[in-house]
Amino acid sequence: MADRPRSKLAAAMAAGREQGRRLTPGRPITDHVPTGGLADAELSLAEVEQAVAGGAPLWRREWAVTVARAAERAGRTAGDDALVARAVALQDALHEQDEREIGPIRESLRAQGFPADAFRAVLDACPTHERDPLVRRLLRVDRVPERVTDKPAGMVHYVASPLDAVLEICRWVGPDDVFCDVGSGLGLVTMLVALITGAEARGVEYDPAYHAWAEARAAELGIPRLRYVQGDARYADYTGVTVLYFYDTFRGTLLEELFVRLQPLAEAGPLRIISRGHSNPVLEAVPWLEVVSRGVAELLVMEAR
Ligand SMILES: C[S@@+](CC[C@H](N)C(=O)[O-])C[C@H]1O[C@@H](n2cnc3c(N)ncnc32)[C@H](O)[C@@H]1O
Repeated sequence: MADRPRSKLAAAMAAGREQGRRLTPGRPITDHVPTGGLADAELSLAEVEQAVAGGAPLWRREWAVTVARAAERAGRTAGDDALVARAVALQDALHEQDEREIGPIRESLRAQGFPADAFRAVLDACPTHERDPLVRRLLRVDRVPERVTDKPAGMVHYVASPLDAVLEICRWVGPDDVFCDVGSGLGLVTMLVALITGAEARGVEYDPAYHAWAEARAAELGIPRLRYVQGDARYADYTGVTVLYFYDTFRGTLLEELFVRLQPLAEAGPLRIISRGHSNPVLEAVPWLEVVSRGVAELLVMEAR
């Protein structure tokens, strides 16, 4: 039988279940088989309600909030206010559970000035499959604000780098480096690089809402050596930067355009470029860069020749 086209909600729920299966191999995540549309949203919200009532662990709350967000979007699209209200209330309840658990850890780290060893100890005490959701909640970048700009052609929307990639990036950054995340989103990578390596970390972000979110988090958490600039990364000033990171910032010609501008920077001093995602093949073709590492956490690390 041919596959039926799936709704966005069904796809999101399937992705959530798949993620859950990867986190806990062999354990069924849900008995519900989605068929698409609002009926799916109703059924899946019932499961989320069970998770909330049962005080679900962090990895399951991560799944539950993904489903509740997808149901909210489905409700908005269909103009179903009751469904939207239910989905939003569940997200708030999940957020409250997160804060009860993670808020005190954040407060303790903040009070100590986010020392790298204390942060590392928090990570080490956390099961591997809960580290990404923990870090996003610790740094308060787990809820993505609405974009205020339309995404111009060739630009990619916000998806956060996974923790394993950021930890690998940190191996290529020293305390004297100036790191820059090109398309820094909510600031997750810059915050982690600054607090783990002690380097100065800069972020350039096009969308003012994402930029403002990153600035507010940096101020609220008190992580030192962070600097955010709002604007188009193609025209930003990279003077002094020694490590640049691209995670799907933009595609094709936009990236090539920026690299023409970056060449003088490489001539002025050491420059390392780290990339993840669709930018990798484009960067591999840049003649003045050579690959020094490939594949770890899906990263490509390059240095100017
Ligand atoms: C895939 S996200 C990566 C976010 C972050 N670097 C990370 O790894 O967690 C790409 C980001 O690049 C931003 N972006 C896209 N085009 C941009 C441009 N021309 N200038 C600055 N930021 C841009 C998007 O708004 C989005 O936040």
